[in-house]
Amino acid sequence: MKRILMLAALCLLCLASAALAGQTTILVAFGTSQPGAEASLKAVEAAYARAGDTIIWAYTSDKIRAKLHAQGRRILSVDEAMNRAAELGVRHLRIQSLHIAPAEEFNQLQRMIVRNLYRHPGRFSSVMLGHPLLESAQDMRETVAAVLASLPRERTARDAVLLMGHGNDRGPGDLVLQAAATAFQQADPLIWLATVEGAGSIDHVLPRLREAGVRRVWLMPFMMVAGDHARNDLAGPEEDSWASRLRAAGMTPMPHLRGLGENPAIQRIFLRHTQAATDNVMQEKQ
Ligand code: CO
Repeated sequence: MKRILMLAALCLLCLASAALAGQTTILVAFGTSQPGAEASLKAVEAAYARAGDTIIWAYTSDKIRAKLHAQGRRILSVDEAMNRAAELGVRHLRIQSLHIAPAEEFNQLQRMIVRNLYRHPGRFSSVMLGHPLLESAQDMRETVAAVLASLPRERTARDAVLLMGHGNDRGPGDLVLQAAATAFQQADPLIWLATVEGAGSIDHVLPRLREAGVRRVWLMPFMMVAGDHARNDLAGPEEDSWASRLRAAGMTPMPHLRGLGENPAIQRIFLRHTQAATDNVMQEKQ
C-alpha cells in the first residue's frame, strides 16, 4: 500500500513538472525601449499565456537591454533566458523567434542558442526553435490577410497604404520583404511596402504613389513594435521621415502606429510556429 501511494505521489509529481516544463517558452524579440511600444510585445505574451505557456522574455538587442537596465528594468539576453529556464528545471525548452524574417537577428539567435548549449551540455532534452513570422507561403498569405484586416476603418478605396519594413543586407531579410511587398501589391494595388534600412527604399515607391495620383497615404509599421523607427523614421517631424517626404510630394500622411504584435492573427501565426516547431536544435541529423 505504502509503495502504491509513493508511486502515485511520484506520478503526480512527474505530471506536474511535465506540465510546467513542457510549456515554457522563451520569446525572443529585438526589443524596444520606447515607452508604449512594449504594448505590442505584451499582447503577444498574453496570447501565449492564454495558450497555457509560461513565458520568459529575451531581447537580442544589447543596446536596448542596456538602456532598460539603466532605467532599472532587467530584460534577459538569450543566454540568460536559457540559464533561467535551466534553473527552473525545464528539460524540453521552446524558443520562439518574434522576428519578421529569418535574417540577421534570427541568425544571431541561432548562434546564441548553440553557444549556450555548447557551454552547458546535457542541460535540456530538447530545444525546439520556432522560426520567424515569414517563412512559408502559408505565413505570407496569413500575414497579408492579417494586415488587410487591421487597416484603419477610415481608409477609403482611394487612399494608399505604405508599410515600413526594417530590412538589411545581412541575411535574406530584404528578399523576404520584397516577396511581402509583391504579395501586398497583388492583394491591393494601393498597398506598398518599403524598408527603412534595407534595399527596398521609399525612393522606389514615391514615384509609384505619384503615378497613382494618391492624395492620402496611411503609414503603418511592418514591424513587431511601433518603436523608434515608426515614431521617428516613419511618422516623425524630421525632414527625411517618410511622413515629411510624402508631405513634400503633396500627399497627406496618415500615421497609424500599431506594432504587428498587437494583431491577433499575427499572434496566431507565431503560436502555430511554436506549437508545430520541428526544428530541434539538440537533434543530430540521422
Ligand atoms: Co533599425
